[in-house]
Amino acid sequence: MAEEQQLIRMAIEARKKSYSPYSHFKVGACLETWGGKFYTGCNIENAGYTATNCAERTAFFQAVSEGEYNFRRIAIVGGGEKGITEACPPCGVCLQVMMEFCDRDVFQVILAKSPEEYEVVLLKDLLPRGFGPGQLKR
Ligand code: THU
Repeated sequence: MAEEQQLIRMAIEARKKSYSPYSHFKVGACLETWGGKFYTGCNIENAGYTATNCAERTAFFQAVSEGEYNFRRIAIVGGGEKGITEACPPCGVCLQVMMEFCDRDVFQVILAKSPEEYEVVLLKDLLPRGFGPGQLKR
């Protein structure tokens, strides 16, 4: 398993690919599976703003499209013209996607400012009463 720092470095690298000509807010993410694979993503904006895809979802959809479903944690970095100056928590839509594929009690979201300065939060604390696949089974 990788160290948090490695995951954050990969997220910082992925952020460089951000396509964000409208907000100029660049986000990068690196998703790790329990098998030790990594899927990175950046935000991809669109002139029709609602078609924008966040970095986290880019990483998730890439992984799922390759048949991966066992996710351990994700590192996220984001920031505007001044660079990465503070933590970038996932938006509600991204939390909903995490809710679909992850165990809320163990899935970790690493909110990073740098490889040295970061916070590890559980999905259950970011989305305490989310709607998920479990509801449809009852
Ligand atoms: N964004 C992400 O990629 N992830 C987040 O967690 C928050 C927001 C993107 C979407 C949009 O391209 C830009 O940041 C500004 O909202």
